[in-house]
Amino acid sequence: MGNHVVIFEARGGSDKGQYGYRNDSMPIVKSLLKQSWTAEIIFYEDEYRGEIYKYAVENATAYISRINPGNLEDETGYFQMLRELVSHGVEGLPHPDAMTAYGAKNALTKLTETELVPDDTYAYYDFEEFKDQFRKNLLNGVRVLKQNRGSTGEGIWRVELIGDVKPTENGHAPNDAMVRCTEAKDNHVEERELGDFIDFCAQYLGGRNGMIVDMPFMPRIVEGEIRVLMLRRTPVYVVHKKPAQTKDAFSATLYSGAEYTYQKPEEWPELMAKVEQNLDLMIDKLGGYAIPLLWTADFMLDDGPDGTDTYVLGEINASCVGFTTHLELADQVANEVVGFIEAEDIVNKRWPAYRV
Ligand SMILES: Nc1ncnc2c1ncn2[C@@H]1O[C@H](COP(=O)(O)OP(=O)(O)O)[C@@H](O)[C@H]1O
Ligand SMILES: [Mg+2]
Repeated sequence: MGNHVVIFEARGGSDKGQYGYRNDSMPIVKSLLKQSWTAEIIFYEDEYRGEIYKYAVENATAYISRINPGNLEDETGYFQMLRELVSHGVEGLPHPDAMTAYGAKNALTKLTETELVPDDTYAYYDFEEFKDQFRKNLLNGVRVLKQNRGSTGEGIWRVELIGDVKPTENGHAPNDAMVRCTEAKDNHVEERELGDFIDFCAQYLGGRNGMIVDMPFMPRIVEGEIRVLMLRRTPVYVVHKKPAQTKDAFSATLYSGAEYTYQKPEEWPELMAKVEQNLDLMIDKLGGYAIPLLWTADFMLDDGPDGTDTYVLGEINASCVGFTTHLELADQVANEVVGFIEAEDIVNKRWPAYRV
């Protein structure tokens, strides 16, 4: 059997091209064909999970997962299928658990030992824990709370205390203190009592993978969020996302009016050096999975100790990264797939290089 790659996509969505495929998937297929590999795109649906699994396990050397888990009603079945494929020797690009480990908001708290994440970053899974620590943190400065779903800025709140607040005996901001809350979805502001706002956030702790991440607010976000698009270990381009130039704006989403500029990684040499220096530790801290094929890391500028710039990681995405604005990358993506799998084949139990 020659090498064959299946690309999993979800049907629907407004960003799809011919035949309902993502615009950057067919270019990967064509580039793999140039390397004398074969490839195809398969729409995943829970209803056909059994058939899709059987087909892929019998025919594919590797899969590339290009589904936003948010597009599936429930990703459990899809992830389980991917896990089974990997355990039956199909190379996972990426492994489903790697998608979760990189993409979940609590990736940040796993990375506090790298230089990329501030020490006072917390993840809460329990309401009482959230209520206790968050009210302490607020006394030290402006915070950003993040729910674990979506990528639209919804449930991402900048929170600051209004006026002078006297701490309680326990070192908490009191429940009746007023807070100013700005949501990244549309930069709208709400002023409310802290206790009410905390109760409102309880919804983010519910359900599977419910959590809230609490990190310091980075005021230099107004200079832009710096998204680095990574092809495994290689930064390939940067999207510089400047929030709208209005008073309260801190969001880098298009919907909120941010402006995007595409740049070369060389325009951010210090950041690229930082990414490179921290990459192995990062892979290790996030569970040691093979690094995803395509992923993004979003950074914000901060002031270093001696007046230099430092960079703070705000989020990673590893489940459905696209490169439609840079289709010329397709050959490089295909090269990376081929190179990675050929290297794996040397030790792969399914196709031993030699037998003793
Ligand atoms: N610590 C922070 N300081 C300042 N702005 C932030 C911070 N974290 C997030 N933001 C802003 O909020 C936006 C949404 O947060 P993000 O973590 O990217 O969530 P989402 O999953 O919704 O994209 C970011 O694009 C950025 O503009
Ligand atoms: Mg984001």
